[in-house]
Amino acid sequence: MRINKFIASCGVASRRKAETLITDGKVTVNGNIVTELSFQVDEKKDIVKVNGEKISLEEKKIYIALNKPEGYITSVKDQFDRPSVLDLLSDVEERIFPVGRLDYETSGLIILTNDGDLTYKLTHPKHNINKVYKAIVKGIPDYSDIKKFKEGIQIEDYKTAPAKLTVTKALPEKKISVCEVTIHEGRNRQVRKMLRAINHPTLRLRRIFVGKIGLGDLEIGKFRYLTDKEIKYLKSIE
Ligand code: URA
Repeated sequence: MRINKFIASCGVASRRKAETLITDGKVTVNGNIVTELSFQVDEKKDIVKVNGEKISLEEKKIYIALNKPEGYITSVKDQFDRPSVLDLLSDVEERIFPVGRLDYETSGLIILTNDGDLTYKLTHPKHNINKVYKAIVKGIPDYSDIKKFKEGIQIEDYKTAPAKLTVTKALPEKKISVCEVTIHEGRNRQVRKMLRAINHPTLRLRRIFVGKIGLGDLEIGKFRYLTDKEIKYLKSIE
């Protein structure tokens, strides 16, 4: 990589400013002053210093919230060649990955980042990060269903942690209702399985919150960069 590009990629200066640093004799490679702008740096081996300080390439960390449409997978590829949420992020140059997953048929908030430490932390089961879903379900859950959610629900060979179920809108004429479900675990198809277990199968499912990060009015299929405050919040989760 050309020396000025290398310096810029390290986040030390713009390419133009880097050129000035080079011609001013402020840059050394392996201890030798380099003033030649066309000098090529071997990023893997060379020790580059600017004003005596070692610099190195560090990938810029980015944090994105995407409103996933139904009919997209959250992994990079799958055997059926279905569209991936990464197809909606073609303008983003960094290699980013989803934090956790949403089902192919589920829409809503998914966070993506190239910050591996944060992904590891947020997907670790010990973190009790609430995730809130809006679900359209068959029928209208009653008080005993809400209580079952509160107590945890047996799905297959596993009992879930206590969860919250609220009916936000009942539409008896259509025999459906709109519910809000809050869970802090992330088992495969967990919300759908829990709602099925109380005999109110899911018709549509959309995630609206991951911790304090909200979907807000982000349009379906669109993404936004998280604010500094949101990033700080995610990093502060213990
Ligand atoms: N629970 C589900 O059932 N599906 C999702 O996509 C997320 C949580």
